[in-house]
Amino acid sequence: MNAPQTLSHSETYFHDGRNFWYNEDFLDLMAKRWSLNRYKTMLDIGCGLCHWSKLLLPYLQPEAEVTAMDNDEVWAEGDEQIFDYFENRSSSLEFVKGDAHRLPFEDDSFDVVTCQTVLIHLKNPEKSLAEMKRVVKPNGIVICAEPNNLVQAILKDSVNRKESIEATTERFESSLSSEHLKQMDKKGHNSFGDLLAGTMTKLGFQNVKSYLNDKLTPILPPYDKPEQAAAISFYLNNAENEADELIKQQIENGTYFNGGGTMMYLVSGQK
Ligand SMILES: C[S@@+](CC[C@H](N)C(=O)[O-])C[C@H]1O[C@@H](n2cnc3c(N)ncnc32)[C@H](O)[C@@H]1O
Repeated sequence: MNAPQTLSHSETYFHDGRNFWYNEDFLDLMAKRWSLNRYKTMLDIGCGLCHWSKLLLPYLQPEAEVTAMDNDEVWAEGDEQIFDYFENRSSSLEFVKGDAHRLPFEDDSFDVVTCQTVLIHLKNPEKSLAEMKRVVKPNGIVICAEPNNLVQAILKDSVNRKESIEATTERFESSLSSEHLKQMDKKGHNSFGDLLAGTMTKLGFQNVKSYLNDKLTPILPPYDKPEQAAAISFYLNNAENEADELIKQQIENGTYFNGGGTMMYLVSGQK
């Protein structure tokens, strides 16, 4: 897919579904587990349009100071709505351009260092995690939300529910090849979520804790929930192959459904 040059990665590839990735009560629970109310300064690496830091912000101390960093040439810096969101919550937001492999910050700078679906796109996610450990304060916390995207390749839905073993295997093989090609091109590892807790442990993080996001977004007719509408709009606008076209057809007939399963790891550690 050729992305328009004038849009950032985030603007091009993100759909509104990102606003519905977590159950609110699950985030409440995670904020308690991570003791976010102890912390005031947060760095969001590979921030994109700040979907992730916007979700975490309400759990931080009042007048929180958020630094949002991305390496994208064209990005959300000029997006006033994002600034308004932080300002309306009496918090500050500063955008910084930088590379996740070499963070442009002093050692021990932030209470919370975090990223969401960023390590899977990096040439060297381990190096980036080592940098996160460097810039987090000694009593702070590093929190990463990263998926295993390969799981998606074996999920059943109303289109492929009766497919043969061969067809499912072929589908999985095709996704696995894409994942390997991405790795060979040094563009990241789509299933890095599986390796996250192990890599943090290897790097000497303390108290490594690993959870799975409990949110599912099943797509069920009549597709009337806002999160379903966001997913449906994505399916309708991003059909790339025959299977996608079948999904599109079934959506138009009102017969498409899926269970909405994902595998998103939430892993934290301290130094
Ligand atoms: C899938 S998006 C996630 C955005 C955001 N974290 C969210 O969850 O909405 C990945 C982001 O990482 C950024 N990114 C990719 N490689 C990077 C790097 N080496 N350094 C900093 N940011 C990077 C991209 O520009 C993009 O905004």
